[in-house]
Amino acid sequence: MPEPHSQYMDRLMRRESFAALWPLFAKATQPAKEMTESFSALVHLRPSMKRLGSCRGIHVGDGAHARTAALFALKSDSLNISVDPIINEGVVRSWQDEYQIERFSWRRSRIQDAMAELNAMAPKPTVVTFVHAHVNSDDVLSEIRWDAAFILACCSPSSQFTHRYTPHAHGKDWGVLSVERRFQVLINPDSDSLDPSQI
Ligand SMILES: C[S@@+](CC[C@H](N)C(=O)[O-])C[C@H]1O[C@@H](n2cnc3c(N)ncnc32)[C@H](O)[C@@H]1O
Repeated sequence: MPEPHSQYMDRLMRRESFAALWPLFAKATQPAKEMTESFSALVHLRPSMKRLGSCRGIHVGDGAHARTAALFALKSDSLNISVDPIINEGVVRSWQDEYQIERFSWRRSRIQDAMAELNAMAPKPTVVTFVHAHVNSDDVLSEIRWDAAFILACCSPSSQFTHRYTPHAHGKDWGVLSVERRFQVLINPDSDSLDPSQI
């Protein structure tokens, strides 16, 4: 039986970017849990992101402190947009200013209310994360342009996980320091940019 491990935390803490990451995650009740959840999204989407090249990351249900978008901004070259109606704009703006974080923005909004704007943006390869997001991923993915997606489910897996797409990968991520570690990686069958056989 696999056991939880600390490799994600070890990898994060060995990097200089940890210093910038820490202030946002330190606000969480369980910072290590939150960090490993967000890092799981990056680990699982990285093979697709390498194929996609310069891409946009849309981080749905990202919480008050936009942590998955923040982690992607620091640890990848994607352009990141965090979408959550409870984003604490004062906290994320101060953090962005203090650490001069680029490729990081947010919409303090339900994803449903941000979709028209997201779809009107210049087309760009897109990855979507749902890290313990309290949204129906199929509803969102049927309405926006996307190439790859990552879902980490928590309290309502039947609506958080897809019923529409066949996952490219799924299982439990033992690097996630939470009992809610079941994930799916999705590749959009309509993507022009990704061939699942090459990921
Ligand atoms: C359990 S929290 C997860 C927060 C963060 N991803 C984390 O792992 O700490 C669920 C989040 O989903 C957000 N949420 C609920 N409905 C949403 C919607 N329609 N659009 C975007 N976010 C939503 C909530 O505001 C909340 O921040």
